[in-house]
Amino acid sequence: MVSLTITQPDDWHLHVRDGDALADIMSETTRCFARAIIMPNLNPPVTTTQQAEAYRQRIMLAIPDDVNFTPLMTLYLTDQTDPEEIELARASGFVHAVKYYPAGATTNSDSGVTDIRKTYNALQALSDNGIPLLIHGEVTDPNSDVFEREKLFIDQVLTQIIRDFPDLKIVLEHITTKHAVEFILAQSDNLAATITPHHLLYNRNAMFKGGIRPHYYCLPILKHEQHRLALVDAATSGNPKFFLGTDSAPHAVANKESSCGCAGIYNAPVAIELYTYIFEQAGALDKLEDFASLYGPRFYNLPTNTSELTLVKQSWTVPANKPLASETIIPLCNGEQLSWQVQT
Ligand code: NCD
Ligand code: ZN
Repeated sequence: MVSLTITQPDDWHLHVRDGDALADIMSETTRCFARAIIMPNLNPPVTTTQQAEAYRQRIMLAIPDDVNFTPLMTLYLTDQTDPEEIELARASGFVHAVKYYPAGATTNSDSGVTDIRKTYNALQALSDNGIPLLIHGEVTDPNSDVFEREKLFIDQVLTQIIRDFPDLKIVLEHITTKHAVEFILAQSDNLAATITPHHLLYNRNAMFKGGIRPHYYCLPILKHEQHRLALVDAATSGNPKFFLGTDSAPHAVANKESSCGCAGIYNAPVAIELYTYIFEQAGALDKLEDFASLYGPRFYNLPTNTSELTLVKQSWTVPANKPLASETIIPLCNGEQLSWQVQT
């Protein structure tokens, strides 16, 4: 049987929610990832180190004792974030980044930043402390075209942040365009990007195949095929500026299949399998470990995992749905056959 063993990977962008759903969601990530950057967009958001510690403890309680997993916590940047809070985050040892959501850009971003200049004292503290700023890179002008929002953000906001804070480490999260790839390549090593499995696998047609398909709706939205191809090239290029971040974003089925469905794709049950397939299709399986397991920790100045993960080439069928506390959730690739499987 064909198999592939790599250093155990980490997920550098993950939503796990809270409460009764935590245990179901965590089990999908801990089956293959050793660590994950935990997004702070709860309601209310995780804005302080104290809240991050309480959230970290709830996550650990949702994981069986014999499972080896470390949540890497983040704070949610607001117009009010105090530079002293950044110092507390640094001292904590468990907060590894701060997340910038432009207010109104996506799920639970209402408390986000209204004008980046309001956060400049906090950004200076991040820069001084070597804490990465993670960016949801889309403008929020409702009149802007939804497919153009990433490019507009890069040109109008990100360029300005990099100019004003050249030493700040930045991850442009879940990039979706050729423009983003080219921009990142042109900047210093302080700028990196995560890439999701869904943006590597699908273009915007997926949302409209034979009808409207809400489970392919996420933000930033799927783009034209030319952008997907640029993302595959970037991910499989062996450039350390690009690394794995699933943006797995669970929403119960009723919140997705609605007249105004939530943005977010639940890919944790299939993510590492899909990345493996994508790298195989690109003839770059030898680069998977770099992307999935080595470049993330290098950017975050964390040690590489010492454990390993084995994937076997063996077909299996993704369940049609999964339990989410008392509700149901539809995973990406539901009902489909995948060619790679995690060895248990
Ligand atoms: C995320 C969520 O549901 O929390 N949704 C998404 O479409 N990616 C928020 C985000 O990362 O934009
Ligand atoms: Zn996200």
